[in-house]
Amino acid sequence: MKRLAILGSTGSIGQSTLSIVEQFPDRYQVAALAAGRNVDEALAQTVRWRPKIVSLATEELADQLATRLKEAGVTGIEVVHGTEGTVACSTLPDADFVVSAIVGVAGLEATHAAILAGKPVGLANKECMVAAGEILTAAAGKQNVPILPIDSEHNAVHQCLRVGAHSEVKTIWLTASGGPFRQLPLDQFASITPAQALKHPTWVMGRRITIDSASMLNKGLEVIEACRLFDVPPAQVRVIVHAQSTVHSLVEYVDGSILAQISVTDMRLPILYALAWPERPASTLTFDLGALRHLDFEPPDLERFPCLRLAFEAAEKGGSHCIALNAADEVAVEAFLEGRIPFMGIPRTIEQVLASTPEAHPATIAEVLAADREARKTAHALLP
Ligand SMILES: NC(=O)c1ccc[n+]([C@@H]2O[C@H](COP(=O)([O-])OP(=O)(O)OC[C@H]3O[C@@H](n4cnc5c(N)ncnc54)[C@H](OP(=O)(O)O)[C@@H]3O)[C@@H](O)[C@H]2O)c1
Repeated sequence: MKRLAILGSTGSIGQSTLSIVEQFPDRYQVAALAAGRNVDEALAQTVRWRPKIVSLATEELADQLATRLKEAGVTGIEVVHGTEGTVACSTLPDADFVVSAIVGVAGLEATHAAILAGKPVGLANKECMVAAGEILTAAAGKQNVPILPIDSEHNAVHQCLRVGAHSEVKTIWLTASGGPFRQLPLDQFASITPAQALKHPTWVMGRRITIDSASMLNKGLEVIEACRLFDVPPAQVRVIVHAQSTVHSLVEYVDGSILAQISVTDMRLPILYALAWPERPASTLTFDLGALRHLDFEPPDLERFPCLRLAFEAAEKGGSHCIALNAADEVAVEAFLEGRIPFMGIPRTIEQVLASTPEAHPATIAEVLAADREARKTAHALLP
């Protein structure tokens, strides 16, 4: 029986994780839940799963949850808040696996603390890897703790890498759906609305990652994530547009063989893989190969999607540039969703922030967070 700490339990990945727990009650239990601001959902989850501890983003929200739990007659559950609260969840002695699915760098400290506490991590929170990948992977190596990717592309790569040695890998190919604007004429990009950008053709996800998929910044973050998770330079990672999202990614070996991972477009599969690794439990997630008529691949258009180019440039520089890429994007996406900047204002903001970011390689989480704050300040100053 694995007891899980789920960070970001009220989000898309968090809820899919809980549906796996529901399906496999003999394998998984919930030990800790950490959420942000959704008190209603956190209450429902706490009542249903009875974790030892639950955390919300602020003290006020945690107080609300504690009061409502009392009213519902649910006792004996510790309610905590803020970064300390998420860290308490991720390091809970009773938890033996941590699902890191908070969006953004808000999940960084808890993920780092989980690794230092020797807990295996199922990682959905790619922003953590982008901002502090070198620190996280070094800590995981030292503690001999696996970081198992939940991001579907990296999960696919992880699966394809099981058949070959690191020295035999030529290229990691990350597939990209291309998002909703893959075929939109470039001159119409200026008028893209948040509602259009929030409609992803193949995946249902949180708001930031959906906008990042539309701008392809998400794929850029994934390139950096792949470099860190699989210890390869950016030149060994390539992106290929594959609109069907059937092949989740591929690994090309030096002998010319290319291995692909194909499965249903459902995040429960990579989550189950990460939770169960190195086992493969039988699941109901099947893929109808007979209905598959063709697989299409095409190179990405960097003119249409400058965010991808910016991410490759940041990946080459590493350190503060990767931190700034993520931070500037988070600020710019929020501004786009609030209607303050146009869609192409997202890459413009990122490019300007990157241009004013000095090259540096933060060695601690505190230094990473300081560089993140600096980049956000620069981004905010650029926005209306
Ligand atoms: N969804 C996918 O299919 C998918 C695929 C690959 C990777 N990912 C990655 O997985 C992560 C989560 O994505 P998602 O789509 O699940 O996002 P989401 O639906 O927006 O959920 C985000 C979660 O983070 C929580 N959160 C936000 N700020 C917080 C804070 N300050 N403290 C504690 N919790 C906080 C939210 O809580 P409240 O809702 O309670 O505020 C929610 O539980 C992201 O890094 C994303 O890139 C997602």
